[in-house]
Amino acid sequence: MIDFENKVAVVTGAASGIGFAMAEKFYQLGMHVVMADIEQDALTAAASRLEDPSRVMAVVTDVSDPDAVDALAEAAFTAFGTVHIVCNNAGVFVGGASWECSDADYRWLIDVNVRGIANGIRSFVPKMIAAGEEGHIVNTASMAAMTTMPFSSVYCMSKAAALSLSECLFKELEIVAPQLGVSVLCPELINTSLASAQRNRPDQYSKQGDLTDTDMSKMTEQAIAEGVASGIEPTVMAERVLQGIKDRKFYLLPQDGWKDAAMIRQEEIQQESNPTFTYVE
Ligand SMILES: NC(=O)c1ccc[n+]([C@@H]2O[C@H](COP(=O)([O-])OP(=O)(O)OC[C@H]3O[C@@H](n4cnc5c(N)ncnc54)[C@H](O)[C@@H]3O)[C@@H](O)[C@H]2O)c1
Repeated sequence: MIDFENKVAVVTGAASGIGFAMAEKFYQLGMHVVMADIEQDALTAAASRLEDPSRVMAVVTDVSDPDAVDALAEAAFTAFGTVHIVCNNAGVFVGGASWECSDADYRWLIDVNVRGIANGIRSFVPKMIAAGEEGHIVNTASMAAMTTMPFSSVYCMSKAAALSLSECLFKELEIVAPQLGVSVLCPELINTSLASAQRNRPDQYSKQGDLTDTDMSKMTEQAIAEGVASGIEPTVMAERVLQGIKDRKFYLLPQDGWKDAAMIRQEEIQQESNPTFTYVE
């Protein structure tokens, strides 16, 4: 896809961080933008920053709910006739040792970070194939998908699943609907609100009575908060995504120590040596 003007993009997790940066970039290119997020007030405020309301639609959506994502797709196709770009970007984080994280922690991250992407694929891809137009799916995983980060195991696991799902989707669409490209965005540390993901934790994943508030989880969440605060700006991710769509490039990775860390893991698999802790400052 080279020409973006008047095309239609849908972005989940668009009220904040990387999602907002992508929505803003698409808007600046003259696209119609559907912004979806679970956090109503933040979504309304974010959408109002894009000035032409005729090109912007905000839809409160919990990506873990298949019916809600179906309704999002229906709303986007009804409002703008078609959809060209879908960014399955919404995501959340919890820290802690894998044996201390609660069942609710596991369920929450699988539901948002994995099923959220699956729901986006299931709701949008059949409609995009039927539309027959050129388009692109961008799934947000993380460098956590391909590095070893102890005490972030639930997050790493969910992002590894997001990466794997995206790789298979890429090959499937190459065979079935080659007009649709796929990219997986694997950010390094980005200055967003990810460390306060608990603000959007629904009651059904209540922390009440669970064991997650341990010193280990607090220490990890503090380290992530500091790492993210020192991270690069989300607008860099929006540029990386835009270029990836233009180039029909699948892996959208940082070109710094994080990529080296991912390579170390590949070598360890090749050599059958044991994992290294590959956190990059
Ligand atoms: N910030 C980083 O360093 C970093 C690194 C790697 C990957 N990522 C990934 O980038 C993506 C965007 O996160 P961010 O860093 O911009 O964080 P963020 O918290 O600033 O934005 C995430 C957005 O997702 C929304 N959200 C949460 N649960 C949702 C749900 N169930 N349904 C719909 N929306 C929901 C939040 O309300 C928020 O607006 C996530 O998938 C995250 O895992 C971030």
